Amino acid sequence: MSDNSDLQKIKAAAAALDYVQDGMVLGLGTGSTAAHFVRLLGDKVKKGCKIQGVPTSIATQELALSLQIPLLDIEKVTHIDVTIDGADEVDPQLRLIKGGGAALLREKLIAHASAHMVVIADEGKMVDILGKFPLPVEIIQFGVAITANKIFECLRATNCEGTDIQLRYKSDGTTPLVTDNGNFILDCHCIMIPDPIGLCAQLNAIPGVVENGIFPIFANTNRTLVLGTSEGAKVVELVS
Ligand code: 5RP
Repeated sequence: MSDNSDLQKIKAAAAALDYVQDGMVLGLGTGSTAAHFVRLLGDKVKKGCKIQGVPTSIATQELALSLQIPLLDIEKVTHIDVTIDGADEVDPQLRLIKGGGAALLREKLIAHASAHMVVIADEGKMVDILGKFPLPVEIIQFGVAITANKIFECLRATNCEGTDIQLRYKSDGTTPLVTDNGNFILDCHCIMIPDPIGLCAQLNAIPGVVENGIFPIFANTNRTLVLGTSEGAKVVELVS
């Protein structure tokens, strides 16, 4: 990651503060861009802004608590006003790949329950076709070989250019990474995903798959992209 891309992430995170209003319930994303946003939100809360946060991972929960951002118990939440989160890839229709930080399941659940999702990203995340970033698929720990084989068949059936699938490991390289939900992640090197909506549906129909990192446009959630660029933040709106 270049300094420039981090600067772009900060610009996007700062511009996303425009979507925050007193009294809102906010979904708080995961990753370095979302962490910039959470830190800026912490400053706004210190200045008196009254919001309640719903974190998408244990890491974000810990960061938000360290900044004294009030958080809601997830079991008491049914509706979220705005979720602000990063992305690994964004296509021209604002469809996403997420899950590079292994938080895709909670991120998707929370974004899907939101009236509005604001995606914050640097320019390097824009692609014409999703798939260069390995697609994360969260799976249960039982029957990994069976599930991986079904996923392989699914990638082939939906004409993905690549079909290589890797179990994600922790940084030690020997222990499989376990998500906040107690599951594994398979990273699928699709290279190009010609039919993201079809692939998303087919992956989630496999019994061992819990969720995958394709974020289609959700029917009841407006989506906005706030892209950090060298010239400032650029906003692309999509109203569903
Ligand atoms: C975590 C995610 C992140 O939003 C995604 O990986 C982008 O991360 P970063 O902002 O660090 O580039 O989906 O599961």
